[in-house]
Amino acid sequence: MRWLATSRSPGATTALALVLGLATSLGACDDLLPRRSEGERIYRQRCAECHGLDASGNTPRFMGDVRADLLDDTWYSGGDEGSIVAVIHDGVPGRMPENTDLTAEQLQAVVRYVQALRHEHEAATTEQPF
Ligand code: HEC
Repeated sequence: MRWLATSRSPGATTALALVLGLATSLGACDDLLPRRSEGERIYRQRCAECHGLDASGNTPRFMGDVRADLLDDTWYSGGDEGSIVAVIHDGVPGRMPENTDLTAEQLQAVVRYVQALRHEHEAATTEQPF
């Protein structure tokens, strides 16, 4: 029965290689999956503290202040894309810091991310027929 033991070892080696390979690729996934879009990265770094991760403005600092709520359809800055970009760039004196160091592309990316959060919110709160 000795041949059985030796004939099994290549299988065991293959299995070990597979497990190691899997572990390595899972490790790589761990690096890849949390990678965020430019807009989300900037939003989390610069905006979430006041506007919340979900953009509701429901943060300890603003407690759902309607002006810090970016999910509602009430805009104090105009609401069109140009005005939103302008308020993010210029800030609001005494309330919101300016972001003059962001490039036009980065400002666009943040606006797109806020729009994505708004769409997500709308989808989650729209009544389903059943
Ligand atoms: C220090 C807290 C703070 C930070 C940081 C901050 N905001 Fe604001 N933001 C506010 C407040 C407060 C308002 C409401 C200002 C007002 O009209 O009184 C506001 C207003 C806005 C508005 C206009 C809302 C409207 O109804 O017209 C937009 C858009 C906005 N912020 C986006 C952002 C984005 C994007 C970032 C990150 C780049 C950001 N804010 C960072 C506090 C903050």
